[in-house]
Amino acid sequence: MDLRVSIASLSLRHPIMLASGILGTTPSMLIKAYNSGASAVITKSLTMSPRDGYPNPVIARVPCGLINAIGLANPGVKNYLDECLEVKDELTRISVIFSIAGFSVNEYVKVAELVTEYGIGKALELNLSCPHVEETRLFSEDPKLTAQVVRAVCDATSLPVFVKVGLTANISEVVESAIKHGASAITAINTIKAMAIDIRAKKPILAAKYGGLSGPAIKPIALRVIYDLYEEFKVPLIGVGGISSWEDVVEFLMAGATAIQVGTIVYKRGLRVFKDLLKGLMNFMHNEGFSSLKDLIGIAH
Ligand SMILES: Cc1cc2nc3c(=O)[nH]c(=O)nc-3n(C[C@H](O)[C@H](O)[C@H](O)COP(=O)(O)O)c2cc1C
Repeated sequence: MDLRVSIASLSLRHPIMLASGILGTTPSMLIKAYNSGASAVITKSLTMSPRDGYPNPVIARVPCGLINAIGLANPGVKNYLDECLEVKDELTRISVIFSIAGFSVNEYVKVAELVTEYGIGKALELNLSCPHVEETRLFSEDPKLTAQVVRAVCDATSLPVFVKVGLTANISEVVESAIKHGASAITAINTIKAMAIDIRAKKPILAAKYGGLSGPAIKPIALRVIYDLYEEFKVPLIGVGGISSWEDVVEFLMAGATAIQVGTIVYKRGLRVFKDLLKGLMNFMHNEGFSSLKDLIGIAH
């Protein structure tokens, strides 16, 4: 059975990747996730300077999902890359995608340059859509800003550039702009701005008040976005949002995703989900008579 997929210069053994922000906070966790069965692993979004993020609580559990407002906490790209050097051989053997974030076009460019220089990553994923960090969210709400940042990063790196978008009313314009200016793939979607209130304390649960909703609650929305983008654009799509079972994986592929990412389900059930999802996908393909994953992609159209 042929489960391999290609996205720009990236060749993956199968379509199930680890999403950004989940376990990718240390290089050794990336290796562990890959060895547990992920086909590619995305780092936590990295910025130029170290960031503490928001104070606790940063995660609220709600029915059907999580609301997080971590605030792009990360050690800064340079520290992260230096930590990567300690396990460079192992990291270069696997497909590591560096997620990058910034507060200006120039910051995205600088982070991209540094990642490219270290030669560890196989691709970049531009996080233009963190819903609870205003300055980052603005990028994916404005097709002109998207154009600027994608063009500038593509000019500054030899790595393929994936653009991660959020749920906005003008998502199709933003994606069009990203593709026109050099994006090799689109990752959709990021978490959706949301909140939860502690009725005893009579105030929002999260210190940041708002956070991003992930998990099963957003799956039908993310699926719809992938379906729509597949109708409109030719680039590879990476589906993410609430995928929790092998049936969900099949749905996203049928909607048109070339690959998918899992976040919240890994957070909840641990690294064994990769093998479970893959096994379910393979059984389904076998029972339905599919010998190649390519035949499944977009079949629901
Ligand atoms: C705790 C947590 C942290 C996250 N951090 C990032 C991040 O740093 N960068 C990013 O692009 N997305 C981040 N995300 C969003 C996920 O990558 C993914 O787009 C979203 O959670 C939807 O997928 P899921 O429902 O499978 O979790 C984060 C999500 C969670 C739950």
